[in-house]
Amino acid sequence: MLPASKDRLYLLTDALFREYGDLFRIHLPGQPPLVFVSHPDDIEQVHRANFDLPQRDFFTRRRVDESEEANPAVHVEDEECFLLHPPDGLSDAGFHRKARWRFFLWATLRDDKDELPEDFLHQLFQWALDLGLVTINRRLGCLENTPEALRMIEIADDLVRSIHGLEMGSLVRWWRWVDTPALRRLRKAHDEMLSFVHAAVQESQQSLQSRRPDSEEDLNIVENLLLDPVLTYEDVHAFLIDVFFAGIDTTSLSSTYTIMRLAQNPDKQEKLQEELDRVLGNGEQVISPDHIKELRYLKACVKEALRLDPPIICVVRKTTRDMVLRGFLVPKGTNMQLYTRASSRSEEFFPRATEFLPERWLRETSASNSVHPYASLPFGAGVRNCAGRRFAEQEIHILLARMFHKYRLEWRYDPLAPTFSMLMMPDKPLRFTMRERR
Ligand code: HEM
Repeated sequence: MLPASKDRLYLLTDALFREYGDLFRIHLPGQPPLVFVSHPDDIEQVHRANFDLPQRDFFTRRRVDESEEANPAVHVEDEECFLLHPPDGLSDAGFHRKARWRFFLWATLRDDKDELPEDFLHQLFQWALDLGLVTINRRLGCLENTPEALRMIEIADDLVRSIHGLEMGSLVRWWRWVDTPALRRLRKAHDEMLSFVHAAVQESQQSLQSRRPDSEEDLNIVENLLLDPVLTYEDVHAFLIDVFFAGIDTTSLSSTYTIMRLAQNPDKQEKLQEELDRVLGNGEQVISPDHIKELRYLKACVKEALRLDPPIICVVRKTTRDMVLRGFLVPKGTNMQLYTRASSRSEEFFPRATEFLPERWLRETSASNSVHPYASLPFGAGVRNCAGRRFAEQEIHILLARMFHKYRLEWRYDPLAPTFSMLMMPDKPLRFTMRERR
């Protein structure tokens, strides 16, 4: 068996799948058994069998004083989560303005070889945070690196890292029963984020009372949510926490991996640039949803990069009823690890699987018709799939359209070998070379 350090646990999981096939069960001391699944047919069956109220046994804690399950932090495990899918058609103006500002800043940060700075990933985190703030119409001055803005990024990062530490840090999850320093750190970060969100919601509420908007167009997203009769005040808070907690790292990492694949594949980058020139012309106008509709190759590039390098490589489900999987009885309450990294990188489902081939996702290419719908699931599947998918895709498409329309990017270092910290993180500074195309 492969030795795997904690931050490369996924290599161990890959090895287990090679050794035991695409369905196996493991027992860890003091924990219920874990069933690992990687075949898309089985993943589909698990999603379908747990359709009505799918659950995750992830990050839940047994209260010491009461015997009920409690969730100390971010996601609430009940139907209300399903109400929080963000509205369609967010206005592009804010994204457009922010993306331009970013490029202006990034261009000035390049060194004399046109390389972006060591902390470029952090720059992408700031970009994603900025966009979250556009959502709530709040200005933290991220471009100016104010202490408040930097703290928000730290908090989002703290949340992801401490949940990883708590869930994967040791075989026995003591924090489920007793307070640990790591859990206290997490609570602190969570409370800070909560008070930030609370202040933003109150601001929007006061603004609504004082100005009595005439039409929906006068409303920002938080105001829209506050006026939605289906949502409670708590739902609005939960949505905003998700924007910051679930949205910043995932969106910036997805952009990172797409930029990386395009920088390593100049022929694909050129093809994308031809499309961008045709659809965006001189690039002066605001990018509209109609432009995005036409940018088919761009969208295929993002899909293909997320097939190869999804930031989240495994989604979890706790079965809500007994089910039979390939002749094996899987009892209700079993923890299933749906490991799509294996199928999304497998020759069986994606011929020339290790190559970056955006063409496989284009409708005119016959291969796209034969892709198994559960073989690459960067946003998960079923009713508990990613609530921010459309929002994230919109951000990423606009960023990449602007970036590759104006610049050519190159990568002059060894390929990335991501580390695992709940999300797949690049193991090297993102020193892309970024040069003006004209
Ligand atoms: C490209 C960026 C993103 C990726 C790759 C991503 C991926 C995922 C994945 C794999 C899941 C688990 C789905 C499942 O269990 O089936 C998830 C859940 C979730 N994501 Fe995202 N996400 C991204 C961006 C966002 C953004 C921007 C937001 C918020 C605006 C967001 C909010 C959520 C929420 C709330 C859930 C939990 C949904 C539920 O339990 O019902 N995500 N995401």
